[in-house]
Parts: sequence; C-alpha cells; structure tokens
Amino acid sequence: MKRIDWKSISRLALVMILTASGIIAYQAQAQQDDLAGRRAKRSTFMKMKLEYSKNLLEALTTENYDKIQANAKALKAMSLAAEWEVAEIPSVQEYLTYSTDFQRLCDDLSKAAERKSIDGVTLGFTQLTINCVKCHQFVRFKKD
Ligand code: HEC
Repeated sequence: MKRIDWKSISRLALVMILTASGIIAYQAQAQQDDLAGRRAKRSTFMKMKLEYSKNLLEALTTENYDKIQANAKALKAMSLAAEWEVAEIPSVQEYLTYSTDFQRLCDDLSKAAERKSIDGVTLGFTQLTINCVKCHQFVRFKKD
C-alpha cells in the first residue's frame, strides 16, 4: 500500500487556503469600491440641488422669473430621476412623502414665477428650503 504523503497534502491545503482567502479579500475590496463609487456618484447628484437652490436665491434677489422657473423645474426633474431613490432609507413611505411635498413645492414655485408674484416666489423658496432641511433631518435620523 502506498504511504500517505502528508507533506504534499498539507502543502496543497495551504495553497488552497491562500487562494480562497485571496479570492474573498478581492471580492470584499471590489464590493467596497462599488459602494464608494455609488456614494460618490450620489454625492455629485445630490449636490446639484444646492446649485439649483443657489441659482434660485440669485434669481429671487434679482427678480429674474425665467430663471426661477427654470431652476424650480430642474429641481423637480431631479426628484423624478432614479438617483433620487436611496436604497439605505428604511422608511420608503416617509421618504416618499417628503419627495411628494418637494415636487408640489417646486410646482408652486414655478407657478408663482409665471404669475410674476414676488411674494409667491419668496414664500415658495422659503417653503422649499424648509422641506430640504426636514428631509435631511429624517435621512440622518434614520441612518444613525
Ligand atoms: C426627499 C428627501 C430630500 C429632500 C427634499 C432634499 N434632499 Fe438633499 N439629500 C437627500 C438624501 C437622501 C441625501 C444623501 C444623503 C447621503 O448620501 O448620506 C441628500 C444629500 C444632499 C446634499 C449633500 C451631498 C453631499 O454628499 O455632500 C446636499 C448639498 C443636498 N442634499 C441639498 C439639498 C437641497 C438644497 C434641497 C432642497 C432644495 C434638498 N437637498 C432636498 C434627500 C433629500
């Protein structure tokens, strides 16, 4: 009977273990890169809301109604994009409520700009800003 060659068996086992742990480490890294990539993309997307809001404030203070309307519409369009959805939010229902309010406020702002109502756009912008803050509070609260 042939003797069991323990030495080669253990060498083979070692090679297998190293390969397996290499694969696991590689997969974990790839997953992390994927998550970081998605976060960075989301961050760029979300920051655009701030750009449009800054434009709104500028347009408001210079009474540029076309600009108000364009930026209110751009904000609303953002809320309809796929990137607006955030998978990590546990209460999708509540997030949806804030999103619906946001859309309605964007519409109100657009309409007030169409009427060239300075009071209407000032109120609309203020209400929209409150909605930004409230939804962010909710998002942070849920994630912590
Ligand atoms: C329906 C909820 C909701 C509303 C309304 C909302 N946001 Fe956000 N916002 C988010 C979420 C979710 C994130 C991403 C948080 C994260 O990635 O941790 C975010 C992130 C941001 C960021 C941070 C981007 C970064 O990564 O640095 C800015 C700036 C921002 N929003 C601006 C605004 C502005 C301005 C408004 C109002 C015009 C607004 N948001 C309205 C949900 C909302």
